[in-house]
Amino acid sequence: MAQDNFHEPVLASEIVSFLVRKPGIYVDGTLGGGGHSLAMLRALFDAGFLEGSLLIGIDQDEAALREAGEKLQEFRAASVLIKGNFLDIEGIIKRVCGSKGLEPKVAGILLDLGVSSFQIDTAERGFSYLREGPLDMRMDIDAPLSAADIVNSYDEKELARLFYRYGEEPRSRSIARAIVAYRLKNGLISRTQELAAIIRDNAHGGERVIKTLSRVFQALRIEVNAELDVLGGVLYDGVDCLDEHGRMAVISYHSLEDRIVKQFFAEKARSDWGPKGVGLREPLAWGTVTPVTRKPVVATQQEIASNSRARSAKLRVIEKIRQGGCGVCQ
Ligand SMILES: C[S@@+](CC[C@H](N)C(=O)[O-])C[C@H]1O[C@@H](n2cnc3c(N)ncnc32)[C@H](O)[C@@H]1O
Repeated sequence: MAQDNFHEPVLASEIVSFLVRKPGIYVDGTLGGGGHSLAMLRALFDAGFLEGSLLIGIDQDEAALREAGEKLQEFRAASVLIKGNFLDIEGIIKRVCGSKGLEPKVAGILLDLGVSSFQIDTAERGFSYLREGPLDMRMDIDAPLSAADIVNSYDEKELARLFYRYGEEPRSRSIARAIVAYRLKNGLISRTQELAAIIRDNAHGGERVIKTLSRVFQALRIEVNAELDVLGGVLYDGVDCLDEHGRMAVISYHSLEDRIVKQFFAEKARSDWGPKGVGLREPLAWGTVTPVTRKPVVATQQEIASNSRARSAKLRVIEKIRQGGCGVCQ
């Protein structure tokens, strides 16, 4: 049986209305518990588009695939669920479409970034400073690098840089120093609460401790799962896979992710008119997408009241308007 509390999808009705507009291939690159996928499949069904549509769901976490498999049972014939990293989106789409005799041209791609409530709430996964567990944080439990590996093997400078870069933590240096000193005295750090205690001892109480804990844990999670590196890759390849008028929707939860998405979409929308003053009549290359959302869409107060995860969500959507290439030759 699918679990009700596995993960509540954020901005689900907005995702459906931005993405589901015609029969076609839809890719949910962050399947999680399948909440968004279920909403999209139901919308395809209600609009009479289900025949002629296929949903490809990708997640690197086996537990998510099991949960989504249960949730999407009624739509089994119209969906294919794949264990993989969305960085391989192009290869996965080509393989699935090839096996079904479909052209690999996609009508809609969804990326709902970060971790699911299930991952955060499961102590053994080690994502949360509130839960005692192994210092793990791998979304894909077969991946080689855990948070403990990082905390125990990076030197002071590398740790400080990591907490600053991916956590935007102002006390990054003194926390890194405290971790290395602890390691020298006590040996390996292997549990979430052990790391949380080092951070708490180093901070000066109050609200600031909670912020520091969240930032350091966020930085480690991003590093373990190479989250920002794979985001750049999937945006690039995902846009390539879109059919003309296909759309890509991305929900991000912190400023580092949102900045990458915003800049990438802006760059793809811009035509290249060459150096200033050249006075070309045609651009060297046309922009290949157009923004569907000028400003990020955020959750309503009503949604935030019932799902606190929605508070930091920002949704951006673009539409493919042409294949890339030289403006003069097109
Ligand atoms: C916020 S949750 C998605 C929740 C989902 N939209 C739902 O309605 O249940 C993010 C999911 O994406 C997965 N994920 C994150 N980065 C990934 C990546 N690079 N490749 C594949 N899956 C990824 C995580 O394992 C997690 O299950």
